[in-house]
Amino acid sequence: DKGEFRHYMMKEIYEQPKVISACLDGRISETKVLTSCFGAESGFLKDIENVHIVACGTSYHAGMVAKYWIEDLAGLPCSVEVASEYRYRKVAVPKNTLFLTLSQSGETADTLAALRMAKELGYLTTLAICNVPSSTLVRESALTLLTNAGPEIGVASTKAFTTQLTALLITSVAIAVENGLSAEKEQELVQAMRSLPAYVSDALSQDAHIKVVADRFANKHNALFLGRGTMFPIALEGSLKLKEISYIHAEAYPAGELKHGPLALVDEDMPIIALVPHNDMLDKLKSNLQEVAARGGELYVFADKDTDLNNEENITFTEVPKVDSILEPIVHTIPLQLLSYHVAVVKGTDVDQPRNLAKSVTVE
Ligand code: M6R
Repeated sequence: DKGEFRHYMMKEIYEQPKVISACLDGRISETKVLTSCFGAESGFLKDIENVHIVACGTSYHAGMVAKYWIEDLAGLPCSVEVASEYRYRKVAVPKNTLFLTLSQSGETADTLAALRMAKELGYLTTLAICNVPSSTLVRESALTLLTNAGPEIGVASTKAFTTQLTALLITSVAIAVENGLSAEKEQELVQAMRSLPAYVSDALSQDAHIKVVADRFANKHNALFLGRGTMFPIALEGSLKLKEISYIHAEAYPAGELKHGPLALVDEDMPIIALVPHNDMLDKLKSNLQEVAARGGELYVFADKDTDLNNEENITFTEVPKVDSILEPIVHTIPLQLLSYHVAVVKGTDVDQPRNLAKSVTVE
């Protein structure tokens, strides 16, 4: 039932504050991550020395964000790979490595094949972050953390992605606690997590503004998304959303790569979507934006007000709530979902059932 919404995708976008709460529920206290959420055998957390994350599509993008978190908070090496590559190569597995899969459906053929292969490779254990409790992936993994997003009908993944990020944040902090994260820092991160549903609601309040921005996109044939740090995987996810439901060719680059090639694409016909985090990379990103502006590129900036980009000429600005940097990738995802949704509606595509795509890719 779509309720008051015209499409499942929009209904699912608007469910995010609620399902993110459901994902946090019972997994954190006021001050701590509750490691019991990984089941009775949470002892594995202290033995982890490496993490291998394997997934496809949107779930892979969630994994890319987690790499930043795990290496930053826990100081452990983490690699992320698409399942269709992982399953067909010889993988070197260091001692005490956690094998972590991400999947909304738990039925993606390549992810399942990767898990089956991994079970022969001597990993410490296998953990699935998944939305479907009765899925094959959950059944075949040693440990599970459910995302609790509820059924996702729209082919374009929205609430499944932000709840995967939430579950990954819980997991990253749990691993970090075993690797020297202070109780004080843990409490700070947990408090940030507790405020996440409210910030996601705030981000949704830009919907009407984003609809106006989207009108200007409908006649574009290309778009370039830029981000640095954890915003790079979010740029990839934003560009995937735009491609799959509006059929506009979109690419995403780490902003620092511009001069290494993609800058050649920039002219008056190329909209640039910049995801601007509020951290010590802000000035570097601003100089990337100047390079684009100097070539006549049309700039669409998503940032908080304090970045001082809201009054710049030649910039279409969309406000994103100012949040703790750990939450930025989750909160910045919301306006990009809304942008691709409204562009698709203007173009009149089949939002919930994009051409050529299936919700669950159960054959390779
Ligand atoms: O069910 P899964 O998360 O394993 O699916 C993986 C991808 O097929 C999926 O994330 C796909 O990229 C999204 N539906 C795109 O929005």
